[in-house]
Amino acid sequence: MSSSMRFLLLAIVCSLSFTPGFCQKEEGGKSTFCYDGDCAPRYWGGQCSTGSGQSPIDIRDNGKNNVGTGILYFTDVCWQDHNFILENNGHTAEASIGPNRTSRCFLSGDGEPDGILGRSYVFSQVHFHWGSDTQGKNGTEHSFNGITYALEAHFVHFSSEYKTLEEAVSSNQPRSVAVVAVIFQLTNKDNEALTPIIKALRQLKRSGDKTKGYGLNLMDILRPTNGKTYLTRYEGSLTTPQCAEVVSWVVFNDPRSFVSPYQLKVFRSILDQRERTLENNVRPTQAINDRRIRFFRTSIAYRELYAMEGHFVHYSSEFNSLNDALASNQSGALSVVAVLYQVSQSENQAFNPILNVLSQVVNSGNSVQGTDLNLWKLLPQQPGKIYNYQYDGSLTTPSCNEVVLWNVLISESHISQQQLTQFRKAIDSHEEPMENNFRPIQALNNRIIRVYESQLFSQ
Ligand SMILES: *[C@@H]1O[C@H](CO)[C@@H](O)[C@H](O)[C@H]1NC(C)=O
Ligand SMILES: *[C@@H]1O[C@H](CO)[C@@H](O)[C@H](O)[C@H]1NC(C)=O
Ligand SMILES: *[C@@H]1O[C@H](CO)[C@@H](O)[C@H](O)[C@H]1NC(C)=O
Repeated sequence: MSSSMRFLLLAIVCSLSFTPGFCQKEEGGKSTFCYDGDCAPRYWGGQCSTGSGQSPIDIRDNGKNNVGTGILYFTDVCWQDHNFILENNGHTAEASIGPNRTSRCFLSGDGEPDGILGRSYVFSQVHFHWGSDTQGKNGTEHSFNGITYALEAHFVHFSSEYKTLEEAVSSNQPRSVAVVAVIFQLTNKDNEALTPIIKALRQLKRSGDKTKGYGLNLMDILRPTNGKTYLTRYEGSLTTPQCAEVVSWVVFNDPRSFVSPYQLKVFRSILDQRERTLENNVRPTQAINDRRIRFFRTSIAYRELYAMEGHFVHYSSEFNSLNDALASNQSGALSVVAVLYQVSQSENQAFNPILNVLSQVVNSGNSVQGTDLNLWKLLPQQPGKIYNYQYDGSLTTPSCNEVVLWNVLISESHISQQQLTQFRKAIDSHEEPMENNFRPIQALNNRIIRVYESQLFSQ
């Protein structure tokens, strides 16, 4: 490696502590709507009555013809086995995970116009729609050639351009929210993925009640099988007042998930804000009008987040300095090698020269002279071949100049929990601990990711 190489280290920090008391408010903060009587869907205001791109809809064709292909990505760190708050908000049971976690749950897909979702979305909450306990009454909001099923789960995400779901909804911009809808069919078998929700539901009764739940694995609820999923994509609205037309819908058609009569009965045991049994919390299907309904056959993928990422920033030798390279606005003026660090029991000694002096630069703007840094040892210590992803991209900090040839090394390296904690003690320019200094994933659009088999060696 060249000795004139400049480098930056970006610490990606995860803090996974559980924070209770976090629940999204209803759109508009109102809870005066209901599903029957004088507050039923036909009386709902706002865009519910004036809109022309409303949800839910009846999905015809079912996506077996004329399907596109793609991948839908979920980052898995926040999707597995964690605590949650379940609230009866008078209209549904809604599960949310603390803000520290939600900020790390991303949904993304292949880029528009040909892919599934062109942006990255942050998970906010999952809630459910169900029917009544009378035999044969189904409770999904979306229907398929007129047929409904037992239960529908909505995984609500907001575009990572916004700070909160409320902010995204009130932007009134199309695609500022993405909802993934999962359809559950009635079977005799309990769905174990729903067990943490069912246990928590049994602690709830009245509108406004909240309870803590444990061991939720969202991915298990979301993904009925490991194979391909057929899904429907269309632009629509929230299905509750004010029915803002801000939602990119991703409805999983097939395969469907399942729920048992006992589990449905527990959903149907909570009360609405009028102290009546909360059932049939289902908005009727809405006119499609001139909207485009698209079908995809997709793979659903976990995308793993690592504890930390190191960026080894190089500029092309055509330029005299990093600043000149940035100012050139030429793609490939910079090349950044990204190294992913997994948490390990043992320390990574290669970080010690940095950690030894880090305490002297905790305040923004400080710098210090360090010694004995061996950049080579910060790379994966793997002899032989490794793979790397290469793509044309940008800096991940403002002004996000699109001048970077990225090389992400697939063979990861490691760092201990204690070393990570030391990185997090650095103070940022707003005098707060420097945590979560990562930018959400961005749309791929029509860029190509190349995969190389390569070998690291020093000259
Ligand atoms: C996030 O977690 C940290 C501890 O890791 C805690 O101090 C902070 O209050 C949490 N943030 C929120 C918004 O709850
Ligand atoms: C109710 O759901 C079942 C499948 O679980 C389906 O066969 C039936 O047609 C549905 N009824 C209606 C009215 O959609
Ligand atoms: C940088 O290049 C892009 C695309 O080539 C162009 O759209 C943009 O205006 C340029 N910016 C500057 C500051 O020259």
